[in-house]
Amino acid sequence: MKRIKIDRLIHAERAATNVVVKGWVRTRRDSSRFSFLEINDGSCLTNLQVIVEDDLDTYDQVRRITTGSAVSLRGDLVASPGKGQQWELRAHEVTVISVAPESYPLQKKRHTDEFLRTIAHLRPRTNKYGAAFRIRSEISYAIHQFFRDRGFRYIHTPIITGSDCEGAGEMFRVTAMDLNRLPVEQGRVDMTQDFFGKEANLTVSGQLSAEMFALSLGDVYTFGPTFRAENSNTRRHAAEFWMVEPEMAFCDLSGNMDLGEEMIRHLVTFALSECSEDLSVFTRFVDKSLARRLETIADAEFVRLPYREAVDILQRSGKSFEYEVSFGKDLQTEHERFLTEDHFGRPVIVYDYPLSIKPFYMRVNDDGETVAAMDVLVPSIGEIIGGSQREERLEVLEGRMTDMGLSKEDYWWYLDARRYGTVEHSGFGLGFERLLMLITGIGNIRDVIPFPRTPNNVEF
Ligand code: 4AD
Ligand code: MG
Repeated sequence: MKRIKIDRLIHAERAATNVVVKGWVRTRRDSSRFSFLEINDGSCLTNLQVIVEDDLDTYDQVRRITTGSAVSLRGDLVASPGKGQQWELRAHEVTVISVAPESYPLQKKRHTDEFLRTIAHLRPRTNKYGAAFRIRSEISYAIHQFFRDRGFRYIHTPIITGSDCEGAGEMFRVTAMDLNRLPVEQGRVDMTQDFFGKEANLTVSGQLSAEMFALSLGDVYTFGPTFRAENSNTRRHAAEFWMVEPEMAFCDLSGNMDLGEEMIRHLVTFALSECSEDLSVFTRFVDKSLARRLETIADAEFVRLPYREAVDILQRSGKSFEYEVSFGKDLQTEHERFLTEDHFGRPVIVYDYPLSIKPFYMRVNDDGETVAAMDVLVPSIGEIIGGSQREERLEVLEGRMTDMGLSKEDYWWYLDARRYGTVEHSGFGLGFERLLMLITGIGNIRDVIPFPRTPNNVEF
């Protein structure tokens, strides 16, 4: 007989007989004539309470079941007389699939996040991490649905690339060469002998490829892993993270901001309504102000603030920041958080950043000093989205590339898009893990990624 997932039993509308359930034992409690087992199969947060009576032929085995053991059960789902659950299972067959030894690290007590990171292969079995990764799955689905409902096409952009989209040089090399026997000529490695015949890297963003498809299919998005070799050991940076990158033809910066705002508000609303059970772990135990913060984001319009005004507010705030603020300097997390948390108390979209601190592809504004860039800042995280209107004018784009020391030959195909039927277009990148931090209140990016990659850490 087919097993039924606990998720379905917990939310059952009526009693049922002879159902098969398989899962792992969270706890066992014995009384004189029966045992209570709490079973979880990962399908939902709630455990199924199982009653096993002592006249069962395998009862002596049941008495030896430990936390973490795997069991198969057959029984009747009946209304529970006890408090705390609507249904319970009266078992008439218990098979122990495997017994976990006493050394099982997840005995019933609270573990710190730091400890659980050292057993990242087991932590999804805890309530908190099980909930976090189920939410991760649901929100991924909601992202695809959001775009599909609006006519966007899903594009798979390459992970191995020859270009550096952000121009920050924080890339992981991809090579098939033997590092102990490199073909060196005049002190330089001969890259023509490598797999691709030239330098290759893991992508930092799918944007440049996505632009080509936006200029072909109209509205597109990518959603996949990106890699950055920036050596910043902060709670919001990972070396491997997922990015959602929409790109829209015939769209200016204001349309881009509309989409970013709509998307975040939609996904937060979705989480509140569709993930409420898993979310309760976080609203109750991780961050008491979470529910209110999420409702504010879902309900309130985002502030739209030119960078110049942001600098002005920060300079006049009377706060002493670690990093000084002035036109031409990038905003730091402390500034972003001040704006969104203290000053406005809701998400803020800062736009029109100085040209000098932004990548080559952003559209130059008429003032010649700023570009049509936008960052969406949210409480407790800071920057969650970075995007822009793209430079569609060939000469301007070429000029920017020259100024920044980029080779036009390497980007010939990117420039082609400005030669043949160029149009205004815009897009952004949303850090998927930062969105999950926002939704769950989890404070460290390492705890929303199944197996996080950060400097000096590639275990599992
Ligand atoms: O602002 P970024 O660097 O923008 C781009 O890469 C653009 N090419 C995107 C585009 O326009 N299509 O990165 C976008 C977002 C950031 O706002 C942040 O949320 C996230 O990606 N992000 C990171 N998340 C985790 N770890 C890191 N090291 C991250 N770097 C950026
Ligand atoms: Mg950015």
